[in-house]
Amino acid sequence: MIKACIFDLDGVIVDTAKYHFIAWRRLANHLGFDFTEEENEKLKGVSRMDSLNLILQWGGIEKSEAEKAQLAELKNGWYREYILKMDPSEILEGVAPFLGHLEQLGIRLALGSSSKNARTILEQVGLMHRFEAIVDGTNITRSKPDPQVFELGAEAMNLNPGECLVFEDAEAGIDAALAGGFLAVGVGAEENLGHAHLVIPNFIGLSLQAILDGIQARAEKHG
Ligand code: BG6
Ligand code: MG
Repeated sequence: MIKACIFDLDGVIVDTAKYHFIAWRRLANHLGFDFTEEENEKLKGVSRMDSLNLILQWGGIEKSEAEKAQLAELKNGWYREYILKMDPSEILEGVAPFLGHLEQLGIRLALGSSSKNARTILEQVGLMHRFEAIVDGTNITRSKPDPQVFELGAEAMNLNPGECLVFEDAEAGIDAALAGGFLAVGVGAEENLGHAHLVIPNFIGLSLQAILDGIQARAEKHG
């Protein structure tokens, strides 16, 4: 029996990956190298420091912990310039009607994001008040694929993982949901998210019943 849905933010509710990419690329260029959009895919769902470590590795650059903290801060300043210009028009298509549909059914809503900027983004796009529980990068000590972010979300609503459906666009996020015993719906492409209980391309025209039926049909097919 599903009582709540826990949503990832970046890539599920809004497309902030493009702003992360511009800001991280600017940092790489500042350090004298560049990276591709394909490499950028590997940063989805990954914490700020883990992302920086990957980028420095691609550039073959070594930095001290203090220098890394400064670089992460520099990137975050550039990133925040973009997110502070966001407005409700940046909510991905189908998301707002789907949240309304869940609310009508009495399904509780929570957010589970690795980002320390999650509250700023929710405020900008006007969705802050829709979530009963918000767990973000400032509340967690272990990043996805660790299930902590979703576990804290379920705990805040006094629910068990089995009563919550998680929506995620990142491989690490699906791993996190599965590790915590949640039902996991991948939002995006089957090739990265095939281990989820169901993969949907987006939320357009979606109902909770269609998702639950889809999960059941996939489980039967996969035995
Ligand atoms: C995740 C994004 O939601 O948050 C990652 O998918 C990002 O790309 C991570 O690195 C941390 O974000 P922030 O805003 O704390 O730097
Ligand atoms: Mg995401």
